[in-house]
Amino acid sequence: MAQGSWYDADIDHVIISEEQIREKIAELAKEVSADYASAPEGLLLVCVLKGAVMFVADFARALGRHGPPVELEFMALSSYGQAATSSGVVRIRKDLDREIAGRHVIVVEDIVDSGLTLSWLLRYLESREAASVEVVALFRKPDAIQVAVPVKYVGFDIPSEFVVGYGLDFAERYRELPYVGVLKPEVYARS
Ligand code: PRP
Repeated sequence: MAQGSWYDADIDHVIISEEQIREKIAELAKEVSADYASAPEGLLLVCVLKGAVMFVADFARALGRHGPPVELEFMALSSYGQAATSSGVVRIRKDLDREIAGRHVIVVEDIVDSGLTLSWLLRYLESREAASVEVVALFRKPDAIQVAVPVKYVGFDIPSEFVVGYGLDFAERYRELPYVGVLKPEVYARS
């Protein structure tokens, strides 16, 4: 396990190391660069706050090495509540700052869990007439999927455990960990 952070005492074990994340992001960026090599107008990365902030920062810089030019947009979404969540209804807390019609869009997500957020978001972005919309998700929990969503680029499939780090939080904490780890049960039992 990585040493030195006071958070380390709360982590049961690391499931994806900092180095694995770095290598995977380089691979994903290479793949995306190849796929969009003939899109000289570049890519619009739509980052879904807050969890995807770490990923989009590293992914955009990795694309910058070989890929098409990128522009960044940010959206903040929240579910209406438990009942509405199961229908995939989400509320926009922060919308795109500009039109995306005719643009090649890649949604940048930290994690696909049930798939409900993405399923809603893809319909929304398509209604805004993007030229194309694809998804890159660094993590996916295949066991938790409730709706099938077309995620073209996936970093890691992970088990449905309580994981934190690299953008993933528990009660807004642990996002800054450079690796992904499983939280000790006593940590979430405390709250
Ligand atoms: C997470 C993640 C996705 C969503 C995925 O965000 O960033 O947006 O949940 O879950 P789903 O597939 O079940 O819809 P969260 O609502 O935890 O907000 P955060 O990124 O601000 O932590």
